[in-house]
Amino acid sequence: MTKNGHSRSPLPKRSVRSNGLPPEPPERGRTVLVTGGGGYIGCVLVPRLLERGYRVRVLDVLYWGEGPLASFRDRIELVEADIRAVPPEALDGIDGVIHLAGLSNDPTAEYDPEANWQMNAVGTGALGRACLERGIERFVFASSCSLYDGLPLGMHDESAELRPVGAYATSKRYAEEALLALASEGLTAVLLRNGTVYGYSPRMRYDLVVNTFVKDALLQERLLLHGGGWMWRPLVDVCDVSDAMIVALEADADLVRGEIFNVLHSNYQIRELAMLVAGSVQLMGRRVELEEVPAPELTRDYECSNAKLAVHLGFSPSRSVVEAVHDLLGRVDITDRTSLSDPRHYNIRWLELLNELRPRLGRLDAVT
Ligand SMILES: NC(=O)c1ccc[n+]([C@@H]2O[C@H](COP(=O)([O-])OP(=O)(O)OC[C@H]3O[C@@H](n4cnc5c(N)ncnc54)[C@H](O)[C@@H]3O)[C@@H](O)[C@H]2O)c1
Repeated sequence: MTKNGHSRSPLPKRSVRSNGLPPEPPERGRTVLVTGGGGYIGCVLVPRLLERGYRVRVLDVLYWGEGPLASFRDRIELVEADIRAVPPEALDGIDGVIHLAGLSNDPTAEYDPEANWQMNAVGTGALGRACLERGIERFVFASSCSLYDGLPLGMHDESAELRPVGAYATSKRYAEEALLALASEGLTAVLLRNGTVYGYSPRMRYDLVVNTFVKDALLQERLLLHGGGWMWRPLVDVCDVSDAMIVALEADADLVRGEIFNVLHSNYQIRELAMLVAGSVQLMGRRVELEEVPAPELTRDYECSNAKLAVHLGFSPSRSVVEAVHDLLGRVDITDRTSLSDPRHYNIRWLELLNELRPRLGRLDAVT
């Protein structure tokens, strides 16, 4: 029985397959700066780095608070700062950087395109430049497969000529170009284009397609298939994406300097994801219906290949959607409707709320 009161078959041992991350790092005790380490990916990545013997410094404005860092807070150094104004001492003693900080989806980027540009594009270039000047060679950057959106339908690889659509993808592309230019000056910049991520993190996001379906299946007992849900999307588990970052951090510099790698488990159709999630939730004895509804005006539909990462670095994301959903359903309290719908788990809702509250906070101070 789980805390959710349902008997569930455990994952068979053979389903925990290696993704190719070597069991040991090449060197222990090095210090890594993880920007955005308080976010969804960061809160899974940081404990994995600590387990591997790294010292970790996290730089983050902590949009989602310090709570998600609780299980490792006493084992890291925390610099509460904005990527648009990195204090120079944040780079003291750093051997490598994994750069996750910034606005992390389309709605938040469109909400304030100028702030997005300063964080995701300008901030990334400036941090890369600062690392080069400080002799910090390794710089792993969290880019996005959404750069392939807008290209003709079909499979794309890292050499595709891009036509980024929207503020988020445009800023990620600019950041990539800035880092590639720095790579030609000697920075070992490694660009990981991550698929849409799924799975459990202590800083949960329910605004990512698989996680959204899990939340909707639990709260609404209904999953909507916009336009039938035929659109394709590359996806990857949050543990795999974290391990890919560690592989990029540890690989021989000559193999990765100025290289771009797509990071995905598979390309899935949204319809297929809904069926996988509905089936997993139904196995818990709960009702879930699927419903086809008209397509929205804007749909994202793209596929890309994960071959380069496997061939060049021997790394292949191994955790499937059904495995991750099974794990997620065992970790969250599926009866806690308040937590499942907490705005903290939806980036755009939380940022809108913060902005609405900001001017009022001064006045509230005066009456307490
Ligand atoms: N989650 C995905 O599906 C996905 C897919 C592709 C790429 N990425 C990229 O991976 C990175 C991490 O994504 P995530 O899902 O963990 O997002 P997230 O929103 O959960 O985390 C981002 C973190 O960055 C911090 N941050 C935001 N702006 C900042 C600023 N100006 N200065 C300092 N810190 C700031 C936030 O407080 C947060 O802790 C992002 O760059 C995102 O674009 C994510």
